Amino acid sequence: MLQAHKPIQRTAMRSTLELTDITDDASLLPGFDGHERIVLGRDETRGLIAIVAIHDSKLGPALGGTRVWKHESLEAAITDALRLSRGMTYKSAIAGMPFGGGKAVILANAKTDKTPELLEAYAEMLAELDGDYYTGEDVGLTLADADFLRARTPNVTGTTIGGSENPSPVTAHGVFLGLNAAAKHRFGRDDLKGLRVGVQGLGSVGRRLAEQLHEAGATLVVADIDKTRVDQAIRDFGATALASDAMATADVDVFAPCALGGVIHAGMIDAIKAKVVAGAANNQLADEADAALLAERGILYAPDYVINAGGLINVASELLPGGYVRARAMKLVETIPATLADIFSRADTEKRPTNAIAEEIADERVAARH
Ligand code: NAI
Repeated sequence: MLQAHKPIQRTAMRSTLELTDITDDASLLPGFDGHERIVLGRDETRGLIAIVAIHDSKLGPALGGTRVWKHESLEAAITDALRLSRGMTYKSAIAGMPFGGGKAVILANAKTDKTPELLEAYAEMLAELDGDYYTGEDVGLTLADADFLRARTPNVTGTTIGGSENPSPVTAHGVFLGLNAAAKHRFGRDDLKGLRVGVQGLGSVGRRLAEQLHEAGATLVVADIDKTRVDQAIRDFGATALASDAMATADVDVFAPCALGGVIHAGMIDAIKAKVVAGAANNQLADEADAALLAERGILYAPDYVINAGGLINVASELLPGGYVRARAMKLVETIPATLADIFSRADTEKRPTNAIAEEIADERVAARH
């Protein structure tokens, strides 16, 4: 069991929130990777248990969303925060943004436990971290929640209060550009006309991606557990529907996972017919080693955190000198295809999986700031 120790000196003395530095204890948990600082926030009165994990701040203050999720244990929540925050370091570095990697997990059920009191206590926790960590939306934390937090502390991005708002259309645009770069590399083509693309998940990102693909002349196969969204795509884009669990092995040229993580795993890689995997979902590979299996089969994998960095670029742009300017954010997003093209050709030359090359480039960028 994790021992809470090292209480952090608080500025708001009358608060019921307790902050504890748990970096030493967390270093024994899976997912720890030399993280700089892990803070546990507890407020029994207001029902908050939250972890903020700061992985690496060499490139700048840590940036990453807050996930609200009822993990089965505190250790599981900390491990989740450790892994996600490490991923953010890579995402920022490879997107060329001057920010480090951080992530927070609030151990709560987003539907039943997320009270204004809990969010008040969390806003206090963010304020106490004093700009070392900037957060935003993630699974279980909505735009309205981000606005609520932003009204109480400045360290929140992606809000409607002078912020960049919903990042999904920007993420979708980055994925669309990245998918084009992958199609050019794998099929040697400059357009998507007639290319069969399977989009799994027609939510905020998938629906917008499908729209752009349709406008570019691609032929769409779609899946979503929400039938209304599938029906809309059939009506609007002339898409063909498929059961979601059949999508990863569908007869398409490109598979674009835009719903869940872990959709690619060793047990099904032999059955994949697509020659490109390029989509928005986080953690598409059940295991990082699966990228080598994809490469062996000649399937080009666009590393998820490279191709889906548009959302991060959008919120990070708020913190750049001059504040958020949409045109500047879009210009930065337009660098995603060149980064991918570089990764793809290095992977070919060095005969290594694309995710290994991406990780190496991110490491080089972080190391350059030592
Ligand atoms: P969303 O919640 O708006 O949409 C997800 C869609 O997937 C929904 O339509 C849902 O019904 C569908 N879905 C859920 N389970 C499914 C299943 N088993 N099979 C097929 N469809 C299923 O989420 P959003 O924002 O569109 O994000 C999609 C993915 O992209 C997520 O993995 C997210 O982590 C990732 N991502 C999103 C970013 C953003 O800016 N929104 C940024 C970077 C990554």
